[in-house]
Amino acid sequence: MNRINFKKINLIISIIFNYRSYLVLSYRLGWWHINSFSDSPYVADVVAHLNRSVIRNSVLDIGCGLCSILRRINYREKKAFDRKQNILKAARLVSRFHNIGNEISFERFDLKTDRVTGKFDAVIMINYVHNINPDEFKQIIRRIYYENLNSLGEIIFDTVSFKAKQYPFNHDANHLVNDLDGSLVLIGRYEFGRSVYSFKKNSTTEWE
Ligand SMILES: C[S@@+](CC[C@H](N)C(=O)[O-])C[C@H]1O[C@@H](n2cnc3c(N)ncnc32)[C@H](O)[C@@H]1O
Repeated sequence: MNRINFKKINLIISIIFNYRSYLVLSYRLGWWHINSFSDSPYVADVVAHLNRSVIRNSVLDIGCGLCSILRRINYREKKAFDRKQNILKAARLVSRFHNIGNEISFERFDLKTDRVTGKFDAVIMINYVHNINPDEFKQIIRRIYYENLNSLGEIIFDTVSFKAKQYPFNHDANHLVNDLDGSLVLIGRYEFGRSVYSFKKNSTTEWE
């Protein structure tokens, strides 16, 4: 008789009993979406950071994925943007079962080609911006800062220093915000050289 491979059996059982497996299959998501909240330690830190914020009227998460962050923060108005329709459908379903506070509104949106409208106390862009070249990302941050951020609002973004094909651009956080009036604060450092930052607007400066 073959030796029982407990590691494999354990993996199969955890896939079967993980509701995310059904989401991945039903909505044709990438398999990395099986990862749970605890697999992304930066999520817990960003959630704690935003829930400590004094002004929590409006938040926008661009590239929201399954809304691991947005579903755990307590803001009056919560908006979720993603470029993939299947992700938005899956996120909408998950948010019916697990979401703190007010309902999330969902919209298809591509950060590289679409323009954000409205003003927010926090705008989040995490775990995909390493695919956007530094000049383009700097310009995106600048536009969001002037057009979409309330006074004392913050932009939450990440950089990855790990050199690999899946991380084409290793951003320098200081370079991205050095021509804007605000304070850059490190929220945390994680594996693959990921750093998550908050850049908080100091003034009510208008678009130049
Ligand atoms: C790895 S997931 C991260 C999800 C979430 N931000 C987080 O950190 O938990 C990346 C998400 O960004 C979305 N995305 C990638 N490029 C995008 C773009 N240019 N505009 C909007 N969404 C984008 C993907 O569809 C995917 O859902």
